Amino acid sequence: MSLPKAELHLHIEGTLEPDLAFALAARNGVELPCADTDALREAYRFQDLQSFLDLYYALMTVLRTERDFEDLADAYLARAAAQGVRHAEIFFDPQAHLARGVGMGTVVEGLWRALGGSEERHGVSTRLIMCFLRDESAESAMATLDAAGPYLDRITGVGLDSAEVGHPPRKFREVYEAAAALGLRRVAHAGEEGPPEYITEALDVLGVERVDHGLRCVEDPALVERLVRERVPLTLCPLSNVRLRTVDTLAGHPLPAMLDAGLMCTVNSDDPAYFGGYAGDNFDAVRGALGLGPERLRELARNSFLASFLDDDEALRARYLAEVEAYDFG
Ligand code: ADE
Ligand code: ZN
Repeated sequence: MSLPKAELHLHIEGTLEPDLAFALAARNGVELPCADTDALREAYRFQDLQSFLDLYYALMTVLRTERDFEDLADAYLARAAAQGVRHAEIFFDPQAHLARGVGMGTVVEGLWRALGGSEERHGVSTRLIMCFLRDESAESAMATLDAAGPYLDRITGVGLDSAEVGHPPRKFREVYEAAAALGLRRVAHAGEEGPPEYITEALDVLGVERVDHGLRCVEDPALVERLVRERVPLTLCPLSNVRLRTVDTLAGHPLPAMLDAGLMCTVNSDDPAYFGGYAGDNFDAVRGALGLGPERLRELARNSFLASFLDDDEALRARYLAEVEAYDFG
């Protein structure tokens, strides 16, 4: 759907399509665990978050040079633009690259080569959010924040991702305090597979402004009430939830009930190359499976810009919001 929207939950490494993975593997002399793109697509049957993460980290080993990161981001931006994305706040996972000897400069400079020209080339404004891997140590996260020092003018905020259960937000209190002191915005994955308490902790201990996923808040009515009252945005990813079996079926997704409860929901793609669709595909899917009407879809699009980190360019946010209001569903 080409309804104008902001994408607020997108892992750039999760946009690595099989064709590009094989092209980069050939370019860099990297061997992949699957013989061809068909075999790779076969591997996309996930049991849970961890089974996805295993493949996600294995495939991203093809990313080695600045040009690889540029090609990855440019391909994403072209696809996103074609689906109505006007603004993208893009996660990246530096620890997964640093561990392989790929430097922070290679990652950030490479991504920036695509992001820097994105408004002109694709009509998509962008921000970059650096994620810490929660299944790595707090010390490693702090070292990653240090390594990002020279590139902070290109990084808007920090996030927290990877295997959730057993890695509560409080583990990263100090690194989030340090990030806040550097003027970085803060978000974190919470309540994807982890319990509602992780959402509360992300808010109270890490001071996050948005919660990524946040789906399991529905298990705690008092938490829902708080999220509504404080207008905390949730970056939901419906197709991801189905593929990672966080929900049984798309038709059973709690999104309509969450909107009815007054939660500030947004719809995003998470890892579109793995989960069957980009931002517009996620909108199409919820419209089809959940019967959301034009005003609900418009609300989701409006929320995406309101929840974005466009505070430094309110004129641009206002322009996007006007596009949402003017959109004709036909
Ligand atoms: N990294 C990439 N996608 C993720 C997800 N859905 N949850 C946690 N970490 C991730
Ligand atoms: Zn995610």
